Amino acid sequence: MGKVSNLKTIINKDYEKKINDLVGKMTLEEKIGQLTQFLPSIFGAFGMTKDEIIAKLVEGEISYEEFQAMERNYHRDEIKEGLLGSMGGVTGAELSNELQKIAVEESRLGIPLLFGLDVVHGYRTIFPIPLAEACSWDMELIEKTAEIAAKEASASGLHWTYAPMVDITRDPRWGRIAEGAGEDTYLGSIIAAARVRGFQGEDVSQPERILACAKHFAAYGGAVGGRDYNTVDMSLQTLHDVFLPPFEAAAKAGVGTFMSAFNDLNGVPCTVNKYLLTDVLREQYGFTGFVVSDANSIAEVEVHGYAENRKEASKKALLAGLEMDMSQGTYKEDLPEQFKNGTISVEVLDEAVRRILSVKFNLGLFDNPYRTNKVIEEQSLLAPEHIDIAREMAKRSIVLLKNENNILPLKKNLKKIAVIGPLADNKKELLGTWAITGNEEDVVTILSGITAAVENDTEIAYSKGCEVIGEEGMDFNLAVEMASDSDVIIAVVGENADMSGEASSRMDLNLPGRQEELLKALHQTGKPVIVVLINGRPLAIPWVADNVSAIVEAWQLGIQTGIAVADVLFGDYNPSGKLVATFPYSVGQVPIYYNHPRTGRPAGKIKFTSKYIDGPHQPLYPFGFGLSYTTFNYDNLVVNSPEVTKDSLTTISVDVTNTGKRAGEEVVQLYISDLVASRVRPVKELKGFKKVNLQPGERQTVTIDLDIHSLGFYNEAMEYVVEPGLFKVCVGPNSQEGLEGELRVLEK
Ligand code: BGC
Repeated sequence: MGKVSNLKTIINKDYEKKINDLVGKMTLEEKIGQLTQFLPSIFGAFGMTKDEIIAKLVEGEISYEEFQAMERNYHRDEIKEGLLGSMGGVTGAELSNELQKIAVEESRLGIPLLFGLDVVHGYRTIFPIPLAEACSWDMELIEKTAEIAAKEASASGLHWTYAPMVDITRDPRWGRIAEGAGEDTYLGSIIAAARVRGFQGEDVSQPERILACAKHFAAYGGAVGGRDYNTVDMSLQTLHDVFLPPFEAAAKAGVGTFMSAFNDLNGVPCTVNKYLLTDVLREQYGFTGFVVSDANSIAEVEVHGYAENRKEASKKALLAGLEMDMSQGTYKEDLPEQFKNGTISVEVLDEAVRRILSVKFNLGLFDNPYRTNKVIEEQSLLAPEHIDIAREMAKRSIVLLKNENNILPLKKNLKKIAVIGPLADNKKELLGTWAITGNEEDVVTILSGITAAVENDTEIAYSKGCEVIGEEGMDFNLAVEMASDSDVIIAVVGENADMSGEASSRMDLNLPGRQEELLKALHQTGKPVIVVLINGRPLAIPWVADNVSAIVEAWQLGIQTGIAVADVLFGDYNPSGKLVATFPYSVGQVPIYYNHPRTGRPAGKIKFTSKYIDGPHQPLYPFGFGLSYTTFNYDNLVVNSPEVTKDSLTTISVDVTNTGKRAGEEVVQLYISDLVASRVRPVKELKGFKKVNLQPGERQTVTIDLDIHSLGFYNEAMEYVVEPGLFKVCVGPNSQEGLEGELRVLEK
């Protein structure tokens, strides 16, 4: 698990006196101001209320473009009066410095503002969506892309990103699966730590670093039915065993802030959940930064029916341990009276202010409130090194799902290639969700990537074929005509960017619109069809898996998508990505995840076992799966100490040989199952892995560390225990295949 880096800088004692002095001088309004974050708003800037503007938008009297172009209110008056602690959604060195100057030079106490935004997978240089990056299983590179995102964001005046999202999810219908690291707790935890290190570095006060935010605390990915914002109901054991460890890993890596989740957890909205925000976060994890609400989530506690009104919701949130109110002014409007009439003690407020000020001090904002300028900004955005890393990350995020008869890689001197599909010549959709500061003009399309990769006399024929959604723009005839006349068909199909991410849950996991029909028509030509998938979640596409010649899972890889896809298609890069979320065969199998608890009737040939009567019980592609242009053989599994004590460290090794003709990388995965325990345990769980690079014919002994303490779980009494007994060990290329061994954990 990630090293503990800058936790100490978040609680630097040197600032204590300064903080206490400041708190001593602050008025009630100034204190609540520090707890308040505003967005630049159009509301109030035009003599129209928020509701009036929204009504005009909905009725079409104002277009979205007009709405976007409306002048924003940057709340300069509130900043001057010291009534704001943070601004969200402000970008650009000049604007942020101008607003900061008001805070520092014109407000009574000169407390600097904290500027925050969702910088999720890159700022201007957009990298692959987080789910795709996770498929690289490459912690160094994941850390690097976060570091570059921090560099560009801070150059553009930001101090704080609302990332990483570390929510585990087992339901691909949930659109926000795109923003996280998939379904596995172990992998999700080390990725959480890598991303925090990438954003914050060893010392977050360095101007090129920004504060990270572990979100959404907690269990947001457990939304019932995969429907966003829906209720979450789970045992405390599952919460602690599966959903919380990535948050703990982020806390250990020194993350400066947490964001509460929209959902309720077992009946208590996370925004006002004292168990989560205080007992677990502060007491168990020792977190010393601050917690921000999700947008408007304090007011929504009333809608949940967990508070009579916003006043009560605000009180509950503050008392539960939530320091900053994001964007709706709930604390600002609803708290003052409650301190004045003694309903809430001012000490609670002071403690919250201290936490926010301490983060600002540790960020170095008091010493250096203006961390950038126009020149730094221009030099940083899209710097050549950033684009190189975007390409590197993009190609390593690709997962090869099928490659019949080794049709891939393609030769660069084919006579004619038909490039078909609604996403082949598209830029915008390749950016994926949460790319608000990206620019589609920076994107290399897949068509351009392919055109640039092939030799001069290769002819490329392109036709869109159909749209991603709906019946519009169908031109199967032209597409089929072009395809019939080519050596190979590359079909680029999938989802639009806004079909995953927030508020984008799906009921179906198919290829939307007429895309599968298009693929069937192309298949009918008898020419080999290579499918390039662009999507923000696992899809259920059994017909595609059964019928096309090859499937390249390319997710939404950001600005270098086209180049990276061509690198893989033509063999300049040998794919090495492995799935971090199971691909179901059918949406009806969901939730289907590899590390499910054991049933008393595992699926088998006889009827009365755990399966479906109308389809397979296996997934389409399992967790950890991904092909290469070479092959790897596993042998000689050695459990180095077959009998171990509970607190020991051990190693497992295996010999891996590259048995093909190309150099390639393999993610060697270690899974463990606890065979008998005081609670029903998962059939297997990932506990370690190593990514190795092997030349053709090369054999390497791969040794993976295993911390026996990590084999534990929360028992009935909610104590974390490692129970003695026999464990099965499995090392292999994915969660379904591998060599098996045994390990015994001793009583003492
Ligand atoms: C999302 C958060 C995000 C926030 C600010 C919310 O709707 O749930 O993940 O950070 O908006 O943009």
